[in-house]
Amino acid sequence: MAANDMIFIGKSGKDEVLDPRLANRHGLITGATGTGKTVTLQVIAEGLSRIGVPVFCADVKGDLSGISQIGVPSPPLEARAQQIGLTDYKHEQFPIMFWDLFGEAGHPIRATIKSMGPLIVSRLLDVNDVQEGIINIVFRLAEDEKIPLIDLEDLRALLNNVSNRADELAGKYGNVAKASVGAVQRQLLVLEQQGGANFFGEPALDINDFMKVDASGRGYINVLMADKLMQSPRLYAVFLFWLMTELFAKMPELGDPPKPKLCFFFDEAHLLFDQSPQALLERIEQVTRLIRSKGVGIYYVTQNPLDVPDTVSGQLGNRVQHALRAYTPKEQKAVRAAAETFRPNPNLDTARVIMELGVGEALVSMLEGSGTPEMVERTLIRPPSARVGAITDAERNAVLAASPLLGKYEQRAQGQKAASVLAGGASGTAEANATGGGSWWGGLGGSPSAPGAPYGSQPARGRSGYGGNRQSTAEVVEKAAARAAVPFLFRMMGQMFRAWLRG
Ligand SMILES: Nc1ncnc2c1ncn2[C@@H]1O[C@H](COP(=O)(O)OP(=O)(O)OP(=O)(O)O)[C@@H](O)[C@H]1O
Ligand SMILES: [Mg+2]
Repeated sequence: MAANDMIFIGKSGKDEVLDPRLANRHGLITGATGTGKTVTLQVIAEGLSRIGVPVFCADVKGDLSGISQIGVPSPPLEARAQQIGLTDYKHEQFPIMFWDLFGEAGHPIRATIKSMGPLIVSRLLDVNDVQEGIINIVFRLAEDEKIPLIDLEDLRALLNNVSNRADELAGKYGNVAKASVGAVQRQLLVLEQQGGANFFGEPALDINDFMKVDASGRGYINVLMADKLMQSPRLYAVFLFWLMTELFAKMPELGDPPKPKLCFFFDEAHLLFDQSPQALLERIEQVTRLIRSKGVGIYYVTQNPLDVPDTVSGQLGNRVQHALRAYTPKEQKAVRAAAETFRPNPNLDTARVIMELGVGEALVSMLEGSGTPEMVERTLIRPPSARVGAITDAERNAVLAASPLLGKYEQRAQGQKAASVLAGGASGTAEANATGGGSWWGGLGGSPSAPGAPYGSQPARGRSGYGGNRQSTAEVVEKAAARAAVPFLFRMMGQMFRAWLRG
């Protein structure tokens, strides 16, 4: 691979670069608040996009969305460019896809409960071991009796059913304590109050939609709007981890590709590791280790390097350490630990330098050659090319209106319900409901069609390859209709809707 495919991160005595061949060996960006982590994340995301690698990242504070806008000249950024001799510093724009679990500031991301599995659903509900046993029974029952387990309503119906049939089911699945079922039901209410009902349902996220590349070959940067989600930190962390497991489960084995298929940035990663039960920590460690050969690089971003357990930290090859403060003994310990993770540089007192680093300056050690960490270097991080900071609602709406995915996920599809199957009905109701007037697309003339979307009009179907898997709202309606008790009526509605979309 030519040297100019290297991703320029900043300048020490030499150029500090991320080698695309080693970008799937994961990374870690750490540093105290305000030291430049988000800007570094933006620099790496832009660099990956330029060479055609799609990126997924969460915008926790709303200050990463600027990446969707062309950069504006600003004195500190121009000064940094000059300082490091970046003579061809250009302001650029990148292809962006906004996602939002609440469907307000981006495409909704949904999953079925069944696809999440009992371990992750138990973490979302924050239940104890005994209650997790109940969740396991619900999953087994749904499987054995072919009951749909799509959304929270289905989960509730199944929990009620398990409670009512406690004695009967105990013979098959083990003891079912009604008190434990009640506790899970109460946790379900909490999850609903956090807005959890939005996340479950269909159409479920197709992870190929994260892998898009635009017409000029740039990788899409998928930005998950996470400011609202962060009000429920556990939900945020577990949902992001579920996304990782989805990627792991659905992507093919690749070995070591010349560049990654996707790089995934996990901001505020401490939330994932804090108070996670051992079973989840083991899963995180395992997914991080194995996802590499699927061409996915995971970059954890957090304030303190000690936030990341050793078993995970040991797998993070590309490292950027911004400044840390060291007033308390605990902080001093973190500084020493951070210093020790680097391959020593005889010319650098790593522990001292960590405390001296300025904003946008970092200790950097990237993997080189066959995958060994380079000697740690004190580095000035390059300025980003897109805008730094927040964007306006109008700017966001313009990005959303131009999205090639417009119309694919906005409409919630509703198929067969667990409640109706359990009540003895052979099939449930089918309908397609709008997600409500508060959505960003509600204001786009009321039409969920794609005005001038780059490849929105390609009627590509199925799961073949990256890029062209667009499912229109009309198809969603038709799919739901195919499962309906009165398929004919709904198919007609689907056809009418399709005709209406065509204008
Ligand atoms: N490479 C850089 N070049 C020039 N300025 C920078 C650079 N990195 C950071 N800055 C400046 O520092 C500010 C804070 O950086 P940033 O938002 O990345 O910090 P952070 O570590 O993410 O903070 P927090 O923990 O609060 O999220 C930026 O808004 C920018 O003005
Ligand atoms: Mg930040």
